[in-house]
Amino acid sequence: MSDDSKTYPVPEAFASQANLTPEKYREMYAASIADPAAFWGEQGKRLDWMTPYTVVKDVSWETGDLHVRWYSDGVLNVTANCIDRHLDTRGDKAAFIWEGDKPGESHTVTYRQLHASVSKFANVLKELGVKKGDRVTIYMPMILEAAYAMLACARIGAVHSVVFGGFSPEALAGRIVDCGSEVLITADEGLRGGKSVPLKVNADKAAGIAGGTVKKMLVVKRTGGNVSMTEGRDHWLHEIGATVSADCPPEPMNAEDPLFILYTSGSTGKPKGVLHTTGGYLLWASMTHEYVFDLKENDIFWCSADVGWVTGHTYIIYGPLANGATSVMFEGVPTYPDASRFWQVCDKHQVTIFYTAPTAIRALMREGEGPVNKTSRKSIRLLGTVGEPINPEAWEWYFHVVGEARCPIVDTWWQTETGGTLIVPLPNTTDMKPGAGSHPFFGIKPILVDADGRELEGAADGNLLITDSWPGQMRTVYGDHQRFVETYFTAYPGKYFTGDGCRRDADGFYWITGRVDDVINVSGHRMGTAEVESALVSHDAVAEAAVVGYPHDIKGQGIYAYVTLRAGCEADDALRKNLVAHVRNEIGPIASPDLIQFAPGLPKTRSGKIMRRILRKIAENEFSNLGDTSTLAEPEVVKDLIDNRQNR
Ligand code: WTA
Repeated sequence: MSDDSKTYPVPEAFASQANLTPEKYREMYAASIADPAAFWGEQGKRLDWMTPYTVVKDVSWETGDLHVRWYSDGVLNVTANCIDRHLDTRGDKAAFIWEGDKPGESHTVTYRQLHASVSKFANVLKELGVKKGDRVTIYMPMILEAAYAMLACARIGAVHSVVFGGFSPEALAGRIVDCGSEVLITADEGLRGGKSVPLKVNADKAAGIAGGTVKKMLVVKRTGGNVSMTEGRDHWLHEIGATVSADCPPEPMNAEDPLFILYTSGSTGKPKGVLHTTGGYLLWASMTHEYVFDLKENDIFWCSADVGWVTGHTYIIYGPLANGATSVMFEGVPTYPDASRFWQVCDKHQVTIFYTAPTAIRALMREGEGPVNKTSRKSIRLLGTVGEPINPEAWEWYFHVVGEARCPIVDTWWQTETGGTLIVPLPNTTDMKPGAGSHPFFGIKPILVDADGRELEGAADGNLLITDSWPGQMRTVYGDHQRFVETYFTAYPGKYFTGDGCRRDADGFYWITGRVDDVINVSGHRMGTAEVESALVSHDAVAEAAVVGYPHDIKGQGIYAYVTLRAGCEADDALRKNLVAHVRNEIGPIASPDLIQFAPGLPKTRSGKIMRRILRKIAENEFSNLGDTSTLAEPEVVKDLIDNRQNR
């Protein structure tokens, strides 16, 4: 359990070199809230503009006229900011240090080399007919070409949609069709934990499912595995790449031109395409990366996320590069070849700032201190976490065992929708409380409300809302602005609803308590229960399914599925396995149900609505107090559900 009163001061060695102080934070925060236009007008100058902006903020959160625009008459290019402007002073500095899945395989790319590779890649896209505004889907392993592909899109004004390499062909196809992407960039195979991932095979299947949408496929050779190429549609990067020039001027983009779409799960329906634009997003990525991580010129920054998630976009690619930093990109997994890998890589590349997910920390914690203690880790001065609430036990282990009580921990709360961090204990501005998101970043005004939208004062527990826009905010749901309005601005009109619950303690620290909607957070990955349910019911044996989260030691939350079978289907372990395989096929391994309970009936209201509250409690093994079940159509189903629960 979290303990409000437990605090750690910032370790002295860190404090003495920190960029921020508590006073500086208070002063900047106050200025950002008092006059947002003035504050953000000034901060906008951290980017290089081809045409400077004169308008800073043009935002309305009124549902009838909802629009979010920042720096809307400014013109810039993301890659000019992430690459070209560093060439004079940092041309020979490492932009990326890439560490392969297999230990021993790594290389460094300087800003000058990055400039050439991205320019060439951009010219390859042009050869394939990609133009400004076109959507390009990227389905790649964690290799440098994934970064080049994203940056190449930004260079010519194409809009990238990166789809995590662990998603299935079905899931990939859905995302391709939704944004009408005619070009798909992939690799022959990926490599993770010593196993190959059949990306090209999956891409071919996805292109098939997507009908004629995919016109061109660009394939990067990673493993050299045998893949088939479709004549006229498929091209090897190294073949076209050999013929194009390394000169590609950056396309002038309006600040509000789209930069990327990233699909994320919501409580209803299919994943939505979160759209981020050029100026505000880049500013947010750059500024949060600098302040949250106490960035210095010589830092080696490692964010262990995958570029398929927003954390990879903002803190492997755009934030670090905008700041001229050195970013480590890791192809592998924390436990391969053994549970010491993260720390070995930190030693090898002298990583100074390390940023990972609580689920990885918990998985490594299970292996004990041995694998950590056999490494030095002396280069690390700051640790970070993201993706889900970190339980205090994992926090303490990270702090004491990994960081040897030398390194502050920045627990960064944010979302795909927010572009970058919004709530965080900025280094050296506050004592640390294990498990607390702590305080708002500049310009962020969080409030807590009860179910009726009444604002709660002082120490309180409620739903977390943000009351005003910030430059990194998503602009719309791609192709469905109404869904944007409904999802985030309708429950509490005029405010941004995060979907998270949150507690504010008596000292004013914010503690994120997890999703309050039908989204579950599995190993830091967002999964809509509706998505898993619809995958389950698409199986021939399934009549109905209801999915909830339950506490899981390593994953944070596991997926618990209640399944009602069609008449005549045998409820046995073989079918359980079969259903898991089916969901993996439909969505991907991250959506695999951990527990499946065959249920002859589900608890429903008389109007036919499934009472998830009851299902959640049973899955959590907390069925002694189920609350009011009198409104159920068939109260007796509850006893059967309890008797046959899987999580004993
Ligand atoms: C959760 C990932 C507690 C939260 C950047 C949010 C967190 C969802 C934290 C967004 C944290 C993320 N503490 N919860 N530090 N960071 N979350 O879109 O529920 O993949 O709404 O973005 O993850 O997940 P997403």
